[in-house]
Amino acid sequence: MLGLLAMVATQNSGVLPLIPLPNRVVSLSSKPFAFDKKTVITTDRKMFAVDELRSMFPKFRMAYSAGVSKDVVMLQHDARLGSEAYNLLVDRDHILIRYGGDSGALYAVETLKQLQMGKSAQFRPVSVDDAPRFRWRGMHLDVSRHFFPVETVKRSLDLMAAAKMNVFHWHLVDDGGWRIQIKKYPKLTEIGAWRRGTGVPWSYGEIYLEKPKPGTPSYGGFYTQDQIKDVVKYAAKRGITIVPEIEMPGHTLPVLVAYPELACNTTKKYDSATWSTNVYCAGKDKSFEFIQNVLDEVFQLFPSKVIHIGGDEVDKLWWNNCPDCQARMKSEGLKDAGELQSYFIKRVEKYINSKGRSMIGWDEILEGGLAPNASVMSWRGNEGGIAAAKSGHEVVMSPTSHCYFDFGYDSTSTEHVYSWEPVPAELTGKERDLVIGGQCNVWTEWIPTRDRYDRMVWPRAFAMAEVLWSSRPKNWSNFQDRLLANLRVLDAKNVQYFLEQPEIPVSFVFDTKPSYLSRSDFKAPVYVSANLKAPAKDWPMLLSQEMPQNNSLYLAYKRGDGSLGDMAELRASTDIHPVPASLPENGLTVDTFSQKFSSVTEVEKAKPEGSTSAMVVDLAARPTQNTPFALRFHGSIRFPDRQFKLYLSSDDGSLLRLNGITVINNDGLHAASAKSVGIKAVDGLYDLDLVYFDNGGASSLKLEYESATTPRQAVPASWFYRSTK
Ligand code: ACM
Ligand code: ZN
Repeated sequence: MLGLLAMVATQNSGVLPLIPLPNRVVSLSSKPFAFDKKTVITTDRKMFAVDELRSMFPKFRMAYSAGVSKDVVMLQHDARLGSEAYNLLVDRDHILIRYGGDSGALYAVETLKQLQMGKSAQFRPVSVDDAPRFRWRGMHLDVSRHFFPVETVKRSLDLMAAAKMNVFHWHLVDDGGWRIQIKKYPKLTEIGAWRRGTGVPWSYGEIYLEKPKPGTPSYGGFYTQDQIKDVVKYAAKRGITIVPEIEMPGHTLPVLVAYPELACNTTKKYDSATWSTNVYCAGKDKSFEFIQNVLDEVFQLFPSKVIHIGGDEVDKLWWNNCPDCQARMKSEGLKDAGELQSYFIKRVEKYINSKGRSMIGWDEILEGGLAPNASVMSWRGNEGGIAAAKSGHEVVMSPTSHCYFDFGYDSTSTEHVYSWEPVPAELTGKERDLVIGGQCNVWTEWIPTRDRYDRMVWPRAFAMAEVLWSSRPKNWSNFQDRLLANLRVLDAKNVQYFLEQPEIPVSFVFDTKPSYLSRSDFKAPVYVSANLKAPAKDWPMLLSQEMPQNNSLYLAYKRGDGSLGDMAELRASTDIHPVPASLPENGLTVDTFSQKFSSVTEVEKAKPEGSTSAMVVDLAARPTQNTPFALRFHGSIRFPDRQFKLYLSSDDGSLLRLNGITVINNDGLHAASAKSVGIKAVDGLYDLDLVYFDNGGASSLKLEYESATTPRQAVPASWFYRSTK
């Protein structure tokens, strides 16, 4: 994978910098079209697209006019085109836009912006016929775990429109805070929109929703109904439907803190601090009354036909222990809590349908039987989407495998997103048409700032946009060529996209002989420093360099504004332990901890509670089946190949050292994600130290190996040796 490497290298002037790629695009041999003072815009209709066009050259006075044939930008409705479709012709004398609807006209203007030659008033001559492959081209934003103000949301809507995305899924309700003003239930935002503390770091177990107190830090916020109306209008102008998500029955901690009477009636302690206490009582009619009243206000604010009701990750523990829920199950003849969930969703769907709207939910709403008219958003994989489409329901695909932009770029690279095919191969014929689109999801537990949000979304949202728009066969190399110009657009808009680290097959060299790096190891200019903290302007371009022994070198690309992208670390070490005549026994020693940690560093400072052995790096040695806990593996390892790649995947953090050198740092609170490293090592025994902790929620840990001769697989027991010293 070349990543941005190739992009930075090749500004291929033969490739039109269009993302998403239009269905048909032909470069014309005409001279470019040039805007000037005499340019006239003629249109058969006032539209936002025309305002956008005029705003490109505010200094030129362009009058609406008819009956001109030269130096003209003409917008014409064409009833044969779909509402999002457009044709665009640019030659020396004309820009002709035929559009199916307002969105089509806007997309023609967005394409035109990408055809602008630098900062000039000239536009490349082309002929374009274009229409989207899918009608749901979505981007989701969780504003509950971390709150993002109206201006950030509007900025995202602008960026989405430029990439021809048309659904903004606004995740307004979750355990981290209730973000939408509901006039009938003011405590939802007086109490439920605020949590004790600074908001960082996120902790599932320490949410503490409470009314802000003077003198005590409080984190949160919400959108007033006026703000929401304004954002909805702003989006509509840009061809974007806002689909609000009002989560139920789970992920509703703020509701239960503000209105505890809607929680289950159980002896289990109700705790405003933790996300596991987050389910509406399905036995009480007043839960449904409340939901209906909330939805009535939601319907007033959001014209979207589709309303998202969540439905994911419902902890059935509460329902199984609640007499009201048990009574409901009995009276409705429901055999288990899965059927109670289905009852819940179907009852809410009936209400939503009675108001002329329809429901979409995460794929868990299939459990116990899908509501008759509901659409499904498939996230846990493709299975939910396949099952829903096979039973005749519409589906939006958003599997974690490609669409979770809260996952790191190591597991979900721009190239990986680009490779995604939204329609599962298991679907045939008409079932395939039920896949109405897809979307990327941006969960914000670990995204507290706008800069981080930018870097998690861009540039991979360009890949998502193209996957969902374009019907053309995919070509990653061609996409990379087109991406460069679009990165420059992000530079100009002050969007902090992720710029991946230079791709180097080997980051760590364990050898007694020196090794060298040179410009020809890279396809693009790469900048180098031995001092990570040195300012970007002081990093010289790499020409030829000896690897410093027992020290690090850092490499990075630069963004258009001169700022450095992600760093690659290169390190050479001469610290090699020869293989002894007789090898010690296989396995590793494991220190165990049953405390809660938020970082590897904290684990390293703690005293282990126990010590045991393990044959491989996995969770078998965990001291408790509950979370949190931590493990620290130590021993030695011998590698069969001289050049290989290691992968360390974990939820939450982990870190791997060889001979005391950190070779993989996957530390921090995060969802399951992998980091990898290329290593060159002469034969020897290497000290291994691997630290892992789980702060709460899901747990996973894997150490894998890959080389030219060995496909990626778990490191086997036979390579580990216990206590060589
Ligand atoms: C989800 O990611 N829980 C829908
Ligand atoms: Zn209950």
